[in-house]
Amino acid sequence: MDVAIFRTDRDEVFALLDRCPHKGGPLSQGIVFGQQVACPLHNWTIGLGDGLAQAPDEGCTPRFAVKVEAQVVYLDATELASHATDLTRPIAGPKR
Ligand code: FES
Repeated sequence: MDVAIFRTDRDEVFALLDRCPHKGGPLSQGIVFGQQVACPLHNWTIGLGDGLAQAPDEGCTPRFAVKVEAQVVYLDATELASHATDLTRPIAGPKR
């Protein structure tokens, strides 16, 4: 499972699954603007805070909690492990 870490121009840090809800594009290679990232494949816009595709597109990619201390980014290992093994949780894709 790849996780994309983003930093905004206001030094806010976010983490999303590195998979666009449209067709799985690598969000880590997208362009960040405000609190959103534009997918590099077809330009869907994904909210960094909630992982939601912006209208008119629909879909969601999982987001992860982030903690930054002394300029080091920490992710929650328990959250990552539960996501990787929870088969009922959507990986990424359109809303149903
Ligand atoms: S795969 Fe991201 S917009 Fe199509």
